[in-house]
Amino acid sequence: MVKEDQDPGHGGNHHRKRTAGHRAMVVLFLCIAGLLWYGIGCGPQFGDGPAGKSPSRLFHDWPNRKPVFVLLLSGQQYGYLQPCGCSPIQYGGLERRFNVIQQLKKEHGWHLVALDLGDIPQPRGPQKLLKYVTSMEALKRLDYTAVGVGENEFMLPLIEGLANFSLNNQVNDVFQPPHVLAGNLLQPKNEFPGAETVAFREGANGIPKIGVTSMVAPSVAQTIKDPTVKIDSDALPRLFKELQNKKAEFKVLLCQGTEQEAKQYATAHPDFRVVLHLSLEEEPPERPAMVGNTMLVSVGHKGRYVGLVGVFPGNQPGQPYELYYQLMKIGPEYKTPPGQDAANPILALMEEYAQKVKNDNGGYLQHFAQTKHPIQIQFPDAKYVGSEACKKCHEHAYDVWKKSKHAHAFNTLVTATRPSLRQFDGECVVCHVTGFEYLTGYRNEQATPNLKDVGCESCHGPGSIHVDKKNPNWRKRQLLELMNPYKTPPDETAKQKEQRMLKLHIFCQHCHDTDNDVGWNNPPVKPGEPPARWPEINHMNPKE
Ligand code: HEC
Ligand code: HEC
Ligand code: HEC
Ligand code: HEC
Repeated sequence: MVKEDQDPGHGGNHHRKRTAGHRAMVVLFLCIAGLLWYGIGCGPQFGDGPAGKSPSRLFHDWPNRKPVFVLLLSGQQYGYLQPCGCSPIQYGGLERRFNVIQQLKKEHGWHLVALDLGDIPQPRGPQKLLKYVTSMEALKRLDYTAVGVGENEFMLPLIEGLANFSLNNQVNDVFQPPHVLAGNLLQPKNEFPGAETVAFREGANGIPKIGVTSMVAPSVAQTIKDPTVKIDSDALPRLFKELQNKKAEFKVLLCQGTEQEAKQYATAHPDFRVVLHLSLEEEPPERPAMVGNTMLVSVGHKGRYVGLVGVFPGNQPGQPYELYYQLMKIGPEYKTPPGQDAANPILALMEEYAQKVKNDNGGYLQHFAQTKHPIQIQFPDAKYVGSEACKKCHEHAYDVWKKSKHAHAFNTLVTATRPSLRQFDGECVVCHVTGFEYLTGYRNEQATPNLKDVGCESCHGPGSIHVDKKNPNWRKRQLLELMNPYKTPPDETAKQKEQRMLKLHIFCQHCHDTDNDVGWNNPPVKPGEPPARWPEINHMNPKE
């Protein structure tokens, strides 16, 4: 299983692999240096520079003169507003992106123009629209010029996204940046008010007028399920002309499509100097592709990177600009230093977001769906009862569990900061309580106080039948097998053991996934071995 984020290597020549010993030293150093982030841990950073400074190897191959301007490109954020703090080594986040931008401006005095490809929200879940609006508000504070729309905006659906952000983002009936670009919608403008075809950043003092448009390419158009949306695949010549007519001197295309599609657009319209397109992979390439003089950029998923295009005065006749590229990973070194929260407006916005998650819509927590646990399919009366009910018969298991972090997982959310109120956010609660996704599982602190934390039934399923000796099924084989599908069967072959352990790995990774536990299974255990961290929570009866 590929674990993102834990290997600062990724094969790029800028990233050196560190030995375990070196890594441990780095960790130690950072702990001592007080670089705790989220107050929950510390870990190796990818940067070599001291906090608050761009690592010097960034931009090292850029010319030693000032760029005319610099494009900052992002996209495919997928609802990742802020690292959850589950693991110390997590990348991305809008708060840090703000700090990155401030720092680049301050250190280099660059003129930055920021653009986003779209796919800002995640595709589903009760909070997707709130997250979209919050992210757009953040991009406004980050001074973004334009943002595209992709598959996930169409799932809001788009009209809702526009109604909740763009229509509130006008001054005297003029839409303000960030402009939402849906260049090739076939509908007349009044059917999607707030969606624009082109956006500009006026030039001055030698900086050219920058024009941006966007295309939803066929590969994305075919995913749109909203019947009110019609896409015009042949709109690019018309959009190009619009940019031309309005005297754009430097043209950028946001291509909601593959690299292949971006290449076709760039070939047909070589006057676009930069095309930002979708990444199929989570990890973006270190270097952009070129089609003639057009740079094709992709920046990976979840907002963990930004791409920077330095636009320098050209030396060749007929070529007013030369482009240089730098991929930048947004690591923990860009978090807001302690005591400076007020200088970062995104932190206040995140706090507002957390308040809304708690209070709006009657509280978003109640809008998360609950389905039947496998036990409830075969035993429809099975309900969650809480870990205390297991204590009297499974004293050893209970003691082990009680001392583990699983037994304190809810309090982690209560005490979390930047933002706070995480115990009201279903997107956090789901892995930090018992049975949130299942009928009779956790709902809220008042209704189900016994189901806070990752309890016995998070792993063994709803236990009401099994805890009740009067229930004829309480020790039924079929029930016990469902409660512990990982039990060693008699005469198990090596192959069978591998299968059983693989199932156990997959189970733990429902919560210990690549985003929330980046160090899980690193280094990987041998097939047939339990997860490396199993011994820490092993509660098998020692006598047996
Ligand atoms: C997919 C499951 C999952 C989700 C969703 C999730 N967490 Fe976690 N969280 C975990 C796991 C697993 C760990 C333990 C990781 C480890 O030990 O490396 C953890 C650990 C943490 C920790 C560190 C606790 C410690 O003892 O150091 C914090 C803080 C935290 N989570 C906060 C959050 C917040 C805030 C959210 C929502 C934004 C969230 N989590 C969402 C699974 C999840
Ligand atoms: C009244 C006593 C009692 C209570 C309460 C109780 N158990 Fe058990 N549990 C047992 C007994 C006895 C067995 C052994 C059953 C057998 O093998 O026939 C068992 C077996 C199990 C097994 C192992 C199943 C297997 O076949 O490997 C699991 C898992 C388990 N219990 C979980 C729980 C959980 C979770 C709770 C609380 C929700 C709980 N138990 C509450 C008595 C109890
Ligand atoms: C329902 C979600 C969930 C499942 C399933 C789950 N865990 Fe966890 N686990 C968590 C959370 C959340 C934490 C962090 C608790 C905290 O500190 O707030 C955690 C923490 C841990 C820790 C302590 C980590 C530390 O930093 O000290 C270990 C060890 C662990 N889990 C092992 C496992 C194993 C092994 C499995 C599979 C058998 C498993 N977990 C399944 C959610 C889960
Ligand atoms: C993080 C997931 C997780 C949590 C939390 C958890 N268990 Fe388990 N439990 C397992 C797994 C996995 C096994 C072992 C499967 C195996 O190898 O037989 C197991 C085994 C058991 C067994 C069988 C023990 C034996 O000796 O055969 C019992 C009983 C049990 N658990 C009860 C509990 C009780 C009671 C709690 C809460 C106090 C609890 N478990 C919490 C995952 C969990």
